Amino acid sequence: MRASDPATAVPAEALGIMTARTLANSHPVLLERLAPGVSLLDVGCGPGTLTIEAARRVAPGAVVGMDLNPEMIAAAEAACPPGEIPTLVFYRGDIRESGWDGEFDVVNAARVLQWIPDAGAAVAAMARAARPGGAVVLLDFAHVKAEWSRPPAPWTRFYQAFLEWRAGAGLDNAIADRLPGLCAAAGLRDVQAIPQVETVRAGEPDFYRAAGIWRLVMESRGRQMVAAGHLAEAERRAALETYTRWMQEPDAVQTLHQTAIVATKRTSRRNDRRP
Ligand SMILES: C[S@@+](CC[C@H](N)C(=O)[O-])C[C@H]1O[C@@H](n2cnc3c(N)ncnc32)[C@H](O)[C@@H]1O
Repeated sequence: MRASDPATAVPAEALGIMTARTLANSHPVLLERLAPGVSLLDVGCGPGTLTIEAARRVAPGAVVGMDLNPEMIAAAEAACPPGEIPTLVFYRGDIRESGWDGEFDVVNAARVLQWIPDAGAAVAAMARAARPGGAVVLLDFAHVKAEWSRPPAPWTRFYQAFLEWRAGAGLDNAIADRLPGLCAAAGLRDVQAIPQVETVRAGEPDFYRAAGIWRLVMESRGRQMVAAGHLAEAERRAALETYTRWMQEPDAVQTLHQTAIVATKRTSRRNDRRP
């Protein structure tokens, strides 16, 4: 795991982005599907914030949180030590190499496929992990559509470098738009795409959490980008400084585009036949 590799290394500074999330503010489509007794595989669970909330909601349903990165699993286990919620376990693994077979009512991956170059292999493994009739839930970004009102030039430079750095590592900056096709290729049916366009304005209660994510990205991913030669350290600092000032402007507005997907695993060929 190279420290500058976007696909595998998650800098510790990025933890704050994920631990500030709740299902209500960051994944309402999954929240809607959670009820006591539902079993859940949370792929790319990060520090487990959403997984732990989900486990409390679905108990006594079993919940497994898994992540490629051992530091994320350590953070998840620190947040909820093994046994604290008896129905919840975390483990380190790569979804593409997992052997789950028809075990879960819901298999979820939130903001994970954006970091996997061969995202189709991950969706295929997720489809295998769902029980027949179960659901695969995805949530991911269309980074290319993000917008900021009157963005400072150093921030625009940073964001362009961010897109280039990701593309250079084989990551798709418009993965949200490809999710339905990936589900269809994995044999899932009834694929429902739900656009999640989030606009936050200065003065709104969620503004600093939502817009502040990019300060944390500059502190975490930004350092990886500098190490990989996509940006000079002075440019990263200028972006951080001017973006932080931009956040204080009374008319600052940010719009991010994500798409949530709910797709169903086939029951059996015979049940699929329509009269
Ligand atoms: C942006 S975080 C999202 C965390 C959480 N799902 C959320 O929405 O807050 C993406 C996570 O996916 C994990 N990840 C990336 N590739 C993976 C793979 N092939 N298998 C499992 N996890 C993976 C990363 O280690 C990282 O923790």
